[in-house]
Amino acid sequence: NLSTSGCGLVSTGEPGTLLRSTIPIPEPYQVPLPIPPVLQPSHTDATTDYYEITQQPAVAEIIPGYRTPLWTYQGTFPGPTLVSRSGRRTVVKHVNKLPHPVVVHLHGGHTPQDSDGYPGDMILPDGGHTDHLAHMGMMPALPGIPVVGSREYVYPFEQRAATLWYHDHRMGFTGQSVWYGLAGFHLVHDDEEDRLPLPCGDRDIPLLITDRAFDADGAMPYPSVHPDLHSPGVTPPYMNGVLGDVILVNGAPSPITRVQRLRYRLRLLNASNARRYRFELDPQPPGGGGIVQIGSDGGLLDRPRAHDSLQLASAERADVVIDFARYAPGTRVRLRNTLGTGRTTEVLAFDVSSHASVDDTMVPEQLSTMRLLDPATATVTRDFLFQNRGEEDGWMINGQPYDPARPLATPRLGEVERWRFITDVHHPVHLHLDHFQVLARDGEEPGPYDHGWKDTLGLEPAQAAEILVRFTDYPGRYMLHCHNLEHEDMAMMADYLVT
Ligand code: C2O
Ligand code: CU
Repeated sequence: NLSTSGCGLVSTGEPGTLLRSTIPIPEPYQVPLPIPPVLQPSHTDATTDYYEITQQPAVAEIIPGYRTPLWTYQGTFPGPTLVSRSGRRTVVKHVNKLPHPVVVHLHGGHTPQDSDGYPGDMILPDGGHTDHLAHMGMMPALPGIPVVGSREYVYPFEQRAATLWYHDHRMGFTGQSVWYGLAGFHLVHDDEEDRLPLPCGDRDIPLLITDRAFDADGAMPYPSVHPDLHSPGVTPPYMNGVLGDVILVNGAPSPITRVQRLRYRLRLLNASNARRYRFELDPQPPGGGGIVQIGSDGGLLDRPRAHDSLQLASAERADVVIDFARYAPGTRVRLRNTLGTGRTTEVLAFDVSSHASVDDTMVPEQLSTMRLLDPATATVTRDFLFQNRGEEDGWMINGQPYDPARPLATPRLGEVERWRFITDVHHPVHLHLDHFQVLARDGEEPGPYDHGWKDTLGLEPAQAAEILVRFTDYPGRYMLHCHNLEHEDMAMMADYLVT
């Protein structure tokens, strides 16, 4: 319950409530690492690639011998990977064959308002029965334009190469929808990145990392976070965040893959509802610094940063290069999560082959040019307090639960602003529309993982972080929210209006 949310949370480092699996989970590193399928366009023309995705129930064998019901994009979890080109328009038509409303948000996309996936812009089920009406009474009256059956999302991709992802964003039910499977990668490539000699093709591997728990029949039941659905007056404990006891990478439990003694690019995405990770290679390569970060939420860094460990909060991404030539042939290298306990420390293993190989890739000293935003050009400083105001009130920003009628900021298009995020417990803070640069944490230098362009920032308890953001893309109504999905669903969101 909420009385454990304050100091209790801080001391355990667990941002939520752990669900435990009741079926035998295979030992780590038995199941092969799956790679999500790449979706082909249904057609293309001079300026645009067109895709179609059907959202539908599906069943998958995640734990060998058990059938797990899922909500999916196009039948798979993760959903298919979309690959777009910077400067080329992408149109994705989503057809909703699930029995409840859905909303699709492209996380990290610089997207015009109509296609951003505002929680009220729902796609109602394509005909037939819907179970959503029973839940609607507790929701605030939402602006937005619901449509029936399908919706076309238009992405201009006037943005640089980056590892983006798409996921459900339905008002009040994002945690549940993502938990059941509605998440996938959307990669953007550009010429600047293509000119670099980085590993590519099947040595460029997207890794969608989540935690889940399995019950006796193989299902992954999601506990409702909504007090209304429980006995009156009893606040369920899950609103601190839902954690599972099994780590899934691309939908497989602590999988394994074979690698050559070559450099690989790994696109790490923390798609977990609430869990934070600190990744470490075990063993570390001789001399350390085995995790070479080349990119962040918003694409390439200015130069590579070598880490012994790398931390990601929910929704954060890091593109890293690992050079398996630094290991002796036949080594098993584990990617471990040192913030986990027991099984949740085991993420992924690489078996390094014994064949000699010649590597024609490298990580250049300079990756990209990064123009730093100048704090002196910030026209406004705004404070956002991410705090729990007690059992009755729940998660709030500036003392206010989500209220679409009261946007918390109205930045002007083209201007730079300085925003300060202040926390009580861990909160990963996310902005739609534009990427930002981290200026400071608690008045000190940004942290080791804060370089480059970010769209989500994992904040520590009782921390104040400052960012600079320029609203360059589109006017309209966008969102700022906590990406702990249970905090988000329990109203830790706000609109901002770019005018
Ligand atoms: Cu990934 Cu508004 O969210
Ligand atoms: Cu939060």
